[in-house]
Amino acid sequence: MKIQSHLYIFIIFFSILFSGCHSEQKQKIGKSEYQQKIDSLIKIMTLDEKIGQLNLLSSGWDITGPTMDPNFKQFIKQGKVGAIFNALTVEFVTELQRLAVEETRLGIPLLFGYDVVHGYRTIFPIPLAQSCSWDLSMIEQSERIAATEASAEGINWTFAPMVDISRDPRWGRVSEGAGEDTWLGSQMGAARVKGFQGKDMSDANTILACVKHFAAYGAPEAGRDYNTVDMSERTLFEYYLPPYKACIDAGAGSIMTSFNEISGVPSSSNRWLFTELLRNKWGFIGFVVTDYASIFELIPHGVASDSAMAGELALHAGIEMDMQSTVFINHLKKSLENEKITLKEIDDAVKNILMAKYNLGLFDDPYRYCNAQREKEELLTPVSQQFARDFVTKSCVLLKNENQTLPIPANIKKIALIGPLANSKEDMLGSWSASGKAVHCITLLEALEEKATKYNFKIEYAEGCQIQDPSVKGFARAMHAAKSADFVILALGEHRNMSGEAASRTNINLPEVQQELANKLIALDKPLAVVLFNGRPLTITELNKTAPAILETWFGGTQAGNGIADVLFGEVIPSGKLTMTFPREVGQIPIHYNVKNTGRPIDPKNPEYKYRSKYIDCPNEPLYPFGYGLSYTQFEYSNLTIDKPELSKSDTLHISIEVSNTGNYDGFEIVQLYTRDLVGSVTRPIKELKGFKKVFIPKGQKDTVTFKLTPRDLKFYNLKMKYVWEPGEFLLFVGPNSISGLSAEFRIL
Ligand code: BGC
Repeated sequence: MKIQSHLYIFIIFFSILFSGCHSEQKQKIGKSEYQQKIDSLIKIMTLDEKIGQLNLLSSGWDITGPTMDPNFKQFIKQGKVGAIFNALTVEFVTELQRLAVEETRLGIPLLFGYDVVHGYRTIFPIPLAQSCSWDLSMIEQSERIAATEASAEGINWTFAPMVDISRDPRWGRVSEGAGEDTWLGSQMGAARVKGFQGKDMSDANTILACVKHFAAYGAPEAGRDYNTVDMSERTLFEYYLPPYKACIDAGAGSIMTSFNEISGVPSSSNRWLFTELLRNKWGFIGFVVTDYASIFELIPHGVASDSAMAGELALHAGIEMDMQSTVFINHLKKSLENEKITLKEIDDAVKNILMAKYNLGLFDDPYRYCNAQREKEELLTPVSQQFARDFVTKSCVLLKNENQTLPIPANIKKIALIGPLANSKEDMLGSWSASGKAVHCITLLEALEEKATKYNFKIEYAEGCQIQDPSVKGFARAMHAAKSADFVILALGEHRNMSGEAASRTNINLPEVQQELANKLIALDKPLAVVLFNGRPLTITELNKTAPAILETWFGGTQAGNGIADVLFGEVIPSGKLTMTFPREVGQIPIHYNVKNTGRPIDPKNPEYKYRSKYIDCPNEPLYPFGYGLSYTQFEYSNLTIDKPELSKSDTLHISIEVSNTGNYDGFEIVQLYTRDLVGSVTRPIKELKGFKKVFIPKGQKDTVTFKLTPRDLKFYNLKMKYVWEPGEFLLFVGPNSISGLSAEFRIL
């Protein structure tokens, strides 16, 4: 590749000068050598060039917030940009990279970022759906495919994984995460980092990960996006921080700030968070980027009086790259002159960004991710389509299946497919659909048409109503279709923009018109299955009372329809389990399984007694608990055994349980292990997930599932905020979800 960059002349010159006579070109270089090169480069950079590296601008192709400066091409040429986001295709990325490499004095290559959140062109189920597969290797593999596709179109940096724990389904961004559990979310985040970054970040098909949104963005007051976060230090450390840490430990090369404040300090000005905790304590060696324009937002937050002050606060906090607010580029120079910041702060930030560029191999070949051949061959391959289809089947959660309504019998003669989500290609993409295209999405109607040929049945499709429009004009046709069918599939839910960023809801019911349509169709008393499409748990209490079967499919992406149809016809047996609690009523929110007992828990012997921690108009229990999900087959749990009743500090507790498949299908079961610390120096949750095994058990067979537990697995932040385990009595539970299963007692000495 032809690189006519001045930078290379400088680098060769300086390598000769500082590091002896290396041949620059094909040398295999390790990190310390990058460090030397970076030190050499920093020495020849002007202040403007340094500050330019800290600037991240959107190409304007895809905007998630107000654009500050559309003149980004000019900026690149002037060396005022270190990275670009939302620029896609080999042609466009090459054009922009050329401006940086060939038209600036030093020719430092750009990073190209993009929100590759659940696939790039092949769109996989939304992350919340993926998490319901509890399948870490599939999650990692999906990011491998996403990275391969994204890097084939010029992208070398993704703004993912999003690992914000959330207990509030009103918050639309729960669709992007792994649900409510810290332990599970940590494992899933780490798997995603590995998938994106692969074994070697400089490989042409791996991309830099960016953990977001640091920190605790998933706990906005009242579920309203961008709202204030306020929580105890203990809750922050115990529940909200570990998934970010797990991603850092897995090697994530960058991290993004969040829009929210914590205890009065907005993330993008939080020195404690980014310098003391992230860098000094956790040993983070990547770079920190802000969320969209969030340095500028320090002004409306009310901690900065103007942009200059906002930039100073952010840099001082340890923020290194300014996404889209252009505060750094416009003000840091002056701030330095005014001695509000130091040159060292700027240099340190530049160094970390340059290191990412070295790690990605961009200094070796700035066009490494611009390969037109790959772009032609590596997107939407048959292998990735098949994988996406399998992933849909693994992400579906069967919520209800009265009288074995599902699977649909193969000898069916006529199916009525009804509902506003039955044939909506666009909605299958879910939020953050990267470069995914509606035209590539298979809807349920399309998939059923294929099954109709295979199983020889007729389909009558009627939209019935729209997603939110109150008109009931389509009801009559829908009723007509249903009356002559021997099975009704009802495709209901949210449209894709009802979840995701800036999509908080105060009412998470099914839109009224859809509930009304469902009531009418269910009243016909036909075999009927509701197929739900949505980006968050919904309060489907009414539907749950009357619908014979409910299959939660979320937004399944490109292969949504095919995967769902495979499950509906029993070609794949559903095995997904919820990673977020479904409330009965919005008033139960925030809701999660790992609650505290309180001083006044409900007395099971006298549940009506007034002065207990409960509601007077709704049970405490959710509609569907964390970990819940049915199968077409049945699993029975028996013979829970532990190898010792007591363990000392260095012991391991061996746990085993027999799980029998007593139903009529071979299937997967996700066996879950929870513990409860009965007496602590501080109160402990009534259940905490400590492990799971996803096992395949053929019908009529039994598997012995084993777990190991050590005192280290039982650590928490004690009264003095030390992360320790404490001796005493514990309960453990092994079962199919967070509320049922068998239990045993043990003691730590
Ligand atoms: C979102 C981030 C995203 C960024 C860039 C913001 O509005 O909060 O998650 O990465 O935009 O698109």
